[in-house]
Formats: sequence, structure tokens, C-alpha cells
Amino acid sequence: MLMLRTSLSAVLALTLALGLAGPLQGEAPRSGDEGKQFEDSRHAVTWRREELKGIERLVRQLRFDLVNNRDARGAEPRLEELAERASGANLLPAFIEGSHGRGSEARARIWEEWEEFKAGFTDLEEQVATLREAAAAEDYRLATRELSDLSMTCRSCHRRYRY
Ligand code: HEC
Repeated sequence: MLMLRTSLSAVLALTLALGLAGPLQGEAPRSGDEGKQFEDSRHAVTWRREELKGIERLVRQLRFDLVNNRDARGAEPRLEELAERASGANLLPAFIEGSHGRGSEARARIWEEWEEFKAGFTDLEEQVATLREAAAAEDYRLATRELSDLSMTCRSCHRRYRY
């Protein structure tokens, strides 16, 4: 009985240690890493492409809210959603190492330049934060400029990492 309990706690300790060790910093996610879980690369590709299309729709809607309608209040819930979705925490787990080809427009160099690729999403997060500040201050001129800068960040990543 004592032996059994000892080995059970050893297994538990090992499981915890493995779980806590997690992925190495700066390493591209593999199937089954922390964060959102994907069955396989194909699933991750489908998900990220849908997610990016959703983000594009959100940005288009926000341009309508902030530039055309000057409606910061209407924009706020969408800005919150954008902050959550257009982020490395949300998107990076779907860029499983080697998940290019097969219905994806991702370039293989994403995984050769993982740190630079990640930095693109950090830029995006910062830009969404500044856009939110501009909207909160109801500074529509600034919000308009921030929206163009945001699109430029999308495009500069696409130029380098998307076919
Ligand atoms: C750090 C890099 C990066 C940033 C920043 C980025 N994207 Fe992308 N995006 C990609 C990659 C890589 C793909 C190709 C994904 C694939 O096909 O597997 C892509 C694909 C897309 C697609 C095509 C999806 C499809 O199914 O046709 C859309 C739409 C898109 N991105 C919108 C955006 C918008 C809008 C922004 C900015 C708000 C943005 N992206 C910012 C890397 C980025």
C-alpha cells in the first residue's frame, strides 16, 4: 500500500514537472503544445485562415464605425474583440511548425525566422492598443491614421510570410 502510494506520487510529480516545463521559449509550437489545441496541422491551417478572415472583417467594420460613423461607443466591443483575436496568444499556436503547403498560403520561412514572425504579432497588438486609446479619446483623426498603420502591419507581414 505504501509502495503503491509512493509510486503514484512519483508519477504525479513527473506529470507536473513535464506539464510545467512546457515548450521552450521562442520555439515554434508543435501539434499538442499549450494554448489552443489542434488535432493536426490541417485543422490548425483551416482554423487560422478562418480566424484571419474574421479579423479582416472586424477591421473593415471598425473602419466603418470610426471613420465613417465616428461612433467610438459602437466600436468599443469590436475593439475588445480585435484585441483578443489579433494577438500572438490567439494566433501563434495555430502556426504549428511546418504547417505550410496543403491549402495554406504560409511560407516555410515563418519557422526559419520564428522570432521575427512573432514580432509581427507584437506590433499588431501594440497598434490595436493605440487604436483603442484613440477611440476611447474619441480622436477620430488619430483613429483613422492608426487604422491605416494597422493595415500596413498586416500587409508587411503578408509580403514576407504569405504567398
Ligand atoms: C505576423 C504575420 C501576420 C500579421 C501581422 C497578419 N497576418 Fe494575415 N496572414 C499571415 C499568414 C502567414 C497568412 C497565411 C495563412 C495560411 O494560409 O496558412 C495570413 C493570411 C491572412 C488572410 C487570408 C485568409 C484566407 O483564408 O484567405 C487574411 C484575410 C489575413 N491574413 C488578414 C490579416 C489582417 C486583416 C491582418 C491585420 C489586422 C493580418 N492578417 C495580420 C500572417 C500575418
